[in-house]
Amino acid sequence: MRFHILTLFPEAFAGAAEYSMMGRAVQRGLVSVNVVDIRQFTEDRHGTADDYQFGGGPGMVLKPEPTFAAVEKILASLPADDAANTPVVLTSPQGSRFNQRLVDEFAAAPALVIICGHYAGVDERIRTNLATHEVSIGDYVLTGGELPAMVMVDAVSRFIPDVVGSAENVQEDSITSGLLQHPLYTRPADFRGMEAPEILRSGNHAAIDQWRRRQSLERTFRLRPDLLPAAHLSNSDRAYLAQ
Ligand code: ADE
Repeated sequence: MRFHILTLFPEAFAGAAEYSMMGRAVQRGLVSVNVVDIRQFTEDRHGTADDYQFGGGPGMVLKPEPTFAAVEKILASLPADDAANTPVVLTSPQGSRFNQRLVDEFAAAPALVIICGHYAGVDERIRTNLATHEVSIGDYVLTGGELPAMVMVDAVSRFIPDVVGSAENVQEDSITSGLLQHPLYTRPADFRGMEAPEILRSGNHAAIDQWRRRQSLERTFRLRPDLLPAAHLSNSDRAYLAQ
């Protein structure tokens, strides 16, 4: 998967994909991140990428010309079929909420273009005539779209084949499977009198699987009951929840 990130602050991405799982994915050539400085596509001497808004008002607005030029250059470099199927995402607090459905959709695309929104906003023509998706990572306003872009790159990369150790891992993850994760413990078995559950140390894998499943069900029921209708539940899960 090739990510193309358009930003006025390319330095925000320095080192962002160079460590841990993302770092390994980039090194192994499974994922690449092309950070594009929108200012490089300005045509005036001063490199003006934003301007005052028509009608007056506070804050500078991202101009359309350099952003259109940058996206068009990226799409022109792709095979026509890929270009037609490459989402162009605008990060914005007004967008639809980023979720697993969008992660799956983006992970299946040949490439992903992300335009990092800008403090006051972007020219409306970028939203309506260039972006295919407008996406928010939550109901709060950030100073720019750089962190949302990193969130999307990270979440989508986990669903690129081989980025995460085994395919099973990501499919069984909390949220992906539709349920929250069961509690995890490591050594020591007794930490300051707080004990790891006996059953996890029993070696009885069928009992451990059942305990974990029930913990996931209980947690989801308590903390995120809104997830249950879409979760894949067996008859015995339903019977357990009904207790
Ligand atoms: N830009 C500013 N706030 C944002 C948010 N919550 N999500 C996506 N982009 C943003």
